[in-house]
Amino acid sequence: MSAPERIPPRGVTTAELLAEGELTVRGRIREASNAVLLCDVSYAGREAACVYKPVAGEQPLWDFPDGTLAQREAAAFEVSEATGWGLVPPTVLREGPYGPGMCQLWIEPPDGDSEGDGEGGDGGGAGLLALVDAEEPGDGWKAVGLAEVGEGRTALLVHADDERLRRLAVLDAVINNADRKGGHLLPAAGGRLYGIDHGVTFNAENKLRTLLWGWAGEKLTPEAVEALERLREALDGALGVRLGELITGAELDATRARVAALLASGRHPEPSGEWPAIPWPPV
Ligand SMILES: Nc1ncnc2c1ncn2[C@@H]1O[C@H](COP(=O)(O)OP(=O)(O)O)[C@@H](O)[C@H]1O
Ligand SMILES: [Mg+2]
Repeated sequence: MSAPERIPPRGVTTAELLAEGELTVRGRIREASNAVLLCDVSYAGREAACVYKPVAGEQPLWDFPDGTLAQREAAAFEVSEATGWGLVPPTVLREGPYGPGMCQLWIEPPDGDSEGDGEGGDGGGAGLLALVDAEEPGDGWKAVGLAEVGEGRTALLVHADDERLRRLAVLDAVINNADRKGGHLLPAAGGRLYGIDHGVTFNAENKLRTLLWGWAGEKLTPEAVEALERLREALDGALGVRLGELITGAELDATRARVAALLASGRHPEPSGEWPAIPWPPV
């Protein structure tokens, strides 16, 4: 009798952990507009913190069909993965204690930054956004536009000229993100930066609303062109199939068209109106 084959213990991936693990709700994030629950998830000896946003807790919106935000969050993760940039924390759809929803890995701020915004409590932006009393953005910064700062005064809204933000600007153009604000930029260990909160994405109409307009009209970097070419191919293959389960056919077609338009122009998109569309409040 031959000895049974030895199968090495299988490592648990983050996606498996999130999708299969046991969810324990620890609390609710108060400032969120949808129900956002902070949870622990554990599976086969692995544990992590995550957010769980049940579909039942989604705030209805006039311009997005009800009950579809969780799917859009999962779709944004899939697109981010296909770029190879890893800009969106692992996100899955699953059942939870309040029904189906999305589950996303919780991103811890880098060591020593208990505020999680990179500069000790400016309410978001990770030190990557600023309002300056000047006409030009200054070295290392890109201008978004003039902002009212009260008492009839204006200031220049700027964001960092940061390659991670520039990738995020490309991702947002592809997923048609209607809500890229400062609080949705999460710095993490190892100099990484994640974008979160992708519920209002993939609309078939142009909804790009972002603080990251600093590169508007500028040539895409060669790495962005490569990523977009990868995406174009992926959208005709496995990624297209996966997105077809998460968004409508018209929304998938529009996503393909946005990728094609970016590649055709070779440039970052420009605001469609006279003023760049920015989310409100911006942080
Ligand atoms: N994956 C995550 N890692 C760390 N913090 C998160 C994560 N997702 C959400 N948060 C925190 O929860 C807050 C609310 O989440 P958000 O996705 O903005 O919810 P909403 O859909 O209500 O806008 C965020 O501003 C952030 O502080
Ligand atoms: Mg939010």
